[in-house]
Amino acid sequence: MNDLHTITLERPADRVALITLNRPKAKNALNLQTMREITDLTARLDADPDVGAIIITGSDTVFAAGADIKEMRDLTFSEVHAQDWLAGWTALADVRTPLIAAVAGYALGGGCELAMMCDLLIAADNAKFGQPEITLGVIPGMGGSQRLTRAVGKAKAMDLCLTGRMMDAEEADRSGLVSRVVPTATLREEALTAATRIAGFSAPAVAMAKEVVNQAFETGLAEGLLFERRVFHSTFATEDQKEGMAAFSEKRAPQFRHR
Ligand code: CAA
Repeated sequence: MNDLHTITLERPADRVALITLNRPKAKNALNLQTMREITDLTARLDADPDVGAIIITGSDTVFAAGADIKEMRDLTFSEVHAQDWLAGWTALADVRTPLIAAVAGYALGGGCELAMMCDLLIAADNAKFGQPEITLGVIPGMGGSQRLTRAVGKAKAMDLCLTGRMMDAEEADRSGLVSRVVPTATLREEALTAATRIAGFSAPAVAMAKEVVNQAFETGLAEGLLFERRVFHSTFATEDQKEGMAAFSEKRAPQFRHR
């Protein structure tokens, strides 16, 4: 795609899209253009019935070193407020296709926040997570105080946001920030395997599973359980439910039609 300048797009496997952050000289810092490219592209991929999972990754040494400090440094309060700076990233949370962050190296500030916006967070053993905004005289602005606190609890979130220290992959795993940790050399392959597996399942069932898990962050338990049950009921309106259960009974692999 020739309208991409700060990211690249590959289709490494059937029904899988791979987005790679590509500003190596700026440690993949996320500027306005990157935000627009990622949100526009993921919206396009989300609308494509041939895409069943999207991986977002960086290089072997840096996922993303945060929002672009040089782009922001001279902005005034009036400007960031009027433009609702960083609000555009919320579009990523509206993507219904599963997003997999494959994180090697630094995921700092907006980089950590971008990874946390994804549904699966697969970390390489060299990954380092942090919210160092406090060292710049600011605070997280892309969800770091909210998603991090929900993921790892108040104690760790306060530690990271107030001290600006980094957490290695092992600590991130122990704290519940990441889905799994894999050797750096196999990160891409592991992310691709997970993406291919997810993309092979019934697309409506996958979208519903994502929706119900995310609902747990928005509602109380009784309401959430009712929502889950109603969505479970609605899977019975799909051809894939008939096929999935018939295939189990007939001891064969299901052929999902993704409807
Ligand atoms: N924005 C803009 N440029 C950045 C950047 C960022 N977030 N992070 C790194 N760069 C640039 C550096 O300025 C440097 O550019 P020059 O070559 O022109 O000097 C280049 O990338 C290489 O960086 P370093 O020389 O610093 O590389 P390093 O290997 O020594 O250190 C690092 C790597 C630890 C990631 C370090 O670059 C760093 O600490 N970066 C900033 C991390 C940060 O504070 N992130 C939070 C940003 S604010 C934010 O994200 C707000 C929010 O909530 C959305």
